[in-house]
Amino acid sequence: MVPMKIAVAKGRIAEKARELLSEGGIAFPDTLYDERKLVITSLSEDFQLLFVKAADVPTYVEKGAADIGIVGKDTIMEDGKDVYELQDLGFGKCRLVVAGFSDSFPADTKSLSVATKYPAIAKNYFDQAGIRTEISRLNGSIELAPIAGLSDVIVDIVETGSTLRDNGLVVLREIEKVSTRVIVNKASYATKTAEVKTCMDLLKKGVDERRADYHNA
Ligand code: PRP
Repeated sequence: MVPMKIAVAKGRIAEKARELLSEGGIAFPDTLYDERKLVITSLSEDFQLLFVKAADVPTYVEKGAADIGIVGKDTIMEDGKDVYELQDLGFGKCRLVVAGFSDSFPADTKSLSVATKYPAIAKNYFDQAGIRTEISRLNGSIELAPIAGLSDVIVDIVETGSTLRDNGLVVLREIEKVSTRVIVNKASYATKTAEVKTCMDLLKKGVDERRADYHNA
């Protein structure tokens, strides 16, 4: 039997995915928590989890190396890959925002320097607002950019808001509410329809049963 391959972002999303599938009766060996193991097959041998960097999940799915991917909406938006987005799993809720010092984005702004892990999302957002941008792509510690004078504002994920607060920054605009989504390879969707549906049903069942928990996640 060829297993359904599910690419999951390493860490919290991978753990949640395993929980959801287990609740649907798909058990995985305990070695899941061994971070060095990058592929793990269910005991029934019909599902395989591939542990990848969050930003690489859409690539695995678009190219068909994985049938299904579980990843944040922010990554899907930034990547713009040719995949189907089929389900909102409702956990990993946060917001994509423009943030900075309280006076750094007045209403009549015509141009801004922006630091972000999400250059495509940022460009699209400011283009639509008619604001010229100079975008610096960073890989982390985004909140430092306005403080160090690298940029006027940042485009970043806010979850609890504590990183912004601790660095004297505020949310200036909300771009999008994001959460963890299921994406599917287009060919897999056409040729393995029943298997994709089984997988989606298992994930949905787990999500429905745990909805109360995820409200606070
Ligand atoms: C993310 C994000 C913010 C922070 C927001 O960073 O880029 O910096 O979390 O979370 P909060 O609103 O709960 O404070 P991450 O933890 O991924 O670290 P990074 O600086 O390496 O990107």
